[in-house]
Amino acid sequence: MVKVVIYLETFEILMSCSGAPPIIPKLPEDGANVERVTTNTLLSASPDRLRADTVAQLKERGSIRSPEVAEAFARVPREKFAPEASSLSAAYSAMDIVITKRNAAGKATSSVSAPWLQAEMLEAARLAPGARVLEIGSGGYNAALIAEIAGPEGLVVTVDIDPFVTERATRFLPETGYPQVKVVLGDAEHAAEEHGPYDAILVTVGAWDCPWGHLLAPGGRMVVPLRFCGITRSITFIREGDRFVGLNPTVCGFVPMQGAGAHQEQVAALADGAVTLTIDAGPALNTSALDLALADDPTEVWTGVVVVSTEPFGTLHLWLATVDDTFGLIWRDPDRDSDVVKPAVRWFCPALVTPDSFAYLTVRERDCKSERLHHHEFGVHGHGRHGAEPAHRLLTHVQTWDRDRRHGHGPDFTLYPADTAMPVPAIGRIFPKRHTQMVIAWP
Ligand SMILES: C[S@@+](CC[C@H](N)C(=O)[O-])C[C@H]1O[C@@H](n2cnc3c(N)ncnc32)[C@H](O)[C@@H]1O
Repeated sequence: MVKVVIYLETFEILMSCSGAPPIIPKLPEDGANVERVTTNTLLSASPDRLRADTVAQLKERGSIRSPEVAEAFARVPREKFAPEASSLSAAYSAMDIVITKRNAAGKATSSVSAPWLQAEMLEAARLAPGARVLEIGSGGYNAALIAEIAGPEGLVVTVDIDPFVTERATRFLPETGYPQVKVVLGDAEHAAEEHGPYDAILVTVGAWDCPWGHLLAPGGRMVVPLRFCGITRSITFIREGDRFVGLNPTVCGFVPMQGAGAHQEQVAALADGAVTLTIDAGPALNTSALDLALADDPTEVWTGVVVVSTEPFGTLHLWLATVDDTFGLIWRDPDRDSDVVKPAVRWFCPALVTPDSFAYLTVRERDCKSERLHHHEFGVHGHGRHGAEPAHRLLTHVQTWDRDRRHGHGPDFTLYPADTAMPVPAIGRIFPKRHTQMVIAWP
């Protein structure tokens, strides 16, 4: 039985031909590194059978491309690292995470990541036998996959800030045949220095910055779910001297970094928590002014930009983050019976946010041409005293994206040390962080 549940940044979610776009009943867990959920439920299958099935699915969707990664997934017993999984088949779901720890507020702080993303990150790292590999964010399963590929001549170091996680990894790894993995308890901001340089660094926690470049050997690869403006892309950075050239930005989500590298975005909870606005930086948000803004009828404008269900539009977020430093996100709590806002997507919905006004992307249905594919037009709702201004700005950005960027391959990402002086790219933006500067440049 195949269950298709979650689509991120695609219009497959907009399957209704009537009224407002449907919003899924529950947001994904923080850190649900989910692009698309398809759970194969094979209730009575053995772990061997489930492993083989997972490998087959991951090959079919292109996440596994090499025999080495396939072999690792076929060997490591995922269920032994995920005792919290509700069933054996849940432990092996190719697209699902297994949450292993939550904080007092109920948010996931640790998980066994989704196999599709683990496979993509391992392939991106191009690991070879004998490789020296650092994993940031532990749990054991991914470290075991790495150890399978690196083999007896390799070195695998895995660092986690949470003793609950390192204690388990220290137990599970020898029990499953990987006693050689070095499990380190500490904040990865400082705790990873000892065994470098590494041929590859895999970061398996949402990172706002990237302080590990100096630990990477020349030509080495660092795969990092990098967070900026509230969105995350897993990017493969290759070291070229002091700069790191990015490849393959992949939409994903991870639990956020804790400790010294933690980064707090600005958050405004409106309408008693039914609506949340987030923005990475900028002037302080005035929550009560934004709350008042929400109560007014919005300025509504329509872009003429029509998208088809199933069409990914992740480059729109990247475009908006590049061209507008008020880019933020709007979330509607799907458990609340409120249609005070009508965001175009269930989560990660683009918005422009100023201290007292905001505008966000919405959609309306356009004539349904077929049973399976639905057409929707992007629009913008602006709220607040100055809401018409960001509404028209967002409208123009969406139209420019549609005209110039929608069908291109997206921007280039490069990381430089924080103290490097560089010109702003012709079409692009520099994101200054603590240790690095991330440059997005559009061709
Ligand atoms: C998604 S889990 C790692 C998944 C794991 N690699 C696996 O095998 O699937 C992310 C982990 O990052 C850890 N973490 C968060 N902040 C950290 C930090 N500053 N240093 C090291 N680990 C951190 C969390 O405790 C959590 O266990």
